[in-house]
Amino acid sequence: MDSHSKLRNYGIFRYFCNRFSYILEKRTTLNRNTVYKMLDINTIEKLDRIATPFYYYDMDLFRKTVNTAAELASKYRLKVHYAVKANVERRLLEYISGIGFGADCVSGNEVLHAHDCGFPAEKIVYAGVGKSDKEIYNALKLGIEAFNCESLQEIFVINEMAHIHKMKANVSVRINPDIDAHTHKYVTTGLYENKFGISQHEFDKLIDILQKCEHINFIGLHFHIGSQITRVDEVFALECKRVNEIVAYFERNGLKVQNINLGGGLGVDYDDPDGSAIPEFETWFRTIAENIERREDQTVHVEPGRSLVAQCATLISRVLFVKSGETKNFLIMDAGMNDLIRPALYGAYHKIENLSASQRTFYPTHQAYDIVGPVCESSDVWGAGRLLPLSVRGDLMAIRSTGAYGQVMASRYNMKDLAPSVFSDALDEAPQVVDYFE
Ligand code: LLP
Repeated sequence: MDSHSKLRNYGIFRYFCNRFSYILEKRTTLNRNTVYKMLDINTIEKLDRIATPFYYYDMDLFRKTVNTAAELASKYRLKVHYAVKANVERRLLEYISGIGFGADCVSGNEVLHAHDCGFPAEKIVYAGVGKSDKEIYNALKLGIEAFNCESLQEIFVINEMAHIHKMKANVSVRINPDIDAHTHKYVTTGLYENKFGISQHEFDKLIDILQKCEHINFIGLHFHIGSQITRVDEVFALECKRVNEIVAYFERNGLKVQNINLGGGLGVDYDDPDGSAIPEFETWFRTIAENIERREDQTVHVEPGRSLVAQCATLISRVLFVKSGETKNFLIMDAGMNDLIRPALYGAYHKIENLSASQRTFYPTHQAYDIVGPVCESSDVWGAGRLLPLSVRGDLMAIRSTGAYGQVMASRYNMKDLAPSVFSDALDEAPQVVDYFE
């Protein structure tokens, strides 16, 4: 058979499969369980009418996750600052600020946005290795809870600016504790080789500076050793042990450590987003409570980002084309690395489901696909060799666990539009698909 006939036959075969499937689908009541357990058939049908790609937010799951974290934090006497960098969606921030959490920010704009979304200034902390003069000035003027300073020079600059503007700045110092968080090297932050925090060799100088700078008010120590930590009890117990030693050293040297901020980092289950929709806050908080040495007057803070927002959002995309390469089948989607850069940047895994096929009563086979995006980069790959039901042009695809570090890291590369947010309780307000064949 020449390659043209092969191609034609393959096309005809696919056409009949799809047709057969379509006919059966129309005849059967669509009451099968979906693969995506969080979505019922009505919702999938509504999603199918919305222009893709978009980020779909399951607001019930979001609220349940935040409420669970809040209950457990109060049980274990922990104060929570939400790490705004994970997701800056206004509706989420307003809910999180409403529940009483503070905000952990890493840029001047995050500070202003958090404040605008209801976080009171006295509940906003501001970390980051490189704060510009403008960013420091704005945060100082706002009267934030604390600057989490990451270098000796930064402390001098804040002290000087506070002096000139006749203010006093609250300062917490971020320490690099040299702990391996056993996570991806790009999201490990607590090793000496990382740029974050102040390391042990500068402790004596640091203590001296903190005692001499008159326009800062030292309030505590800050740590954050990495993200997507899955060996929760082991890694956080180790962090607490090291933090206890460092806090004791500062107090022995005359600095009262009022706040102990342990940062964020709790991992989520990217393999099984339905099975573990709510992350292990209980294990994380219990490990801290059991291992941190605290006096009654000391407050212990945590800064979850990913764990509060990752599982509630799904990037919904559509199959544009199915292409058979020389050795593999490609599913070409309308969402790409510009919408979610994690797979291209870290080789991150996100579960992918074909929502349309999961509704079909009959699909003839499963196939391995390289699922790719439309961006002109070879790294724009969602997943290689993923086994999916036979998928066709127009199928609706779910890229799961994308609420954290998804939309916030999106870009307009290739001049693509930014994927908008669509909320489960406002599906009818979303922009609908346009049929360009009509
Ligand atoms: N506190 C500080 C100072 C941080 O730098 C971070 C995250 C957090 C808290 C929150 O950590 P989480 O609970 O979200 O693990 N873009 C990467 C993740 C970068 C995390 C940066 N820092 C990703 O997509 O995996």
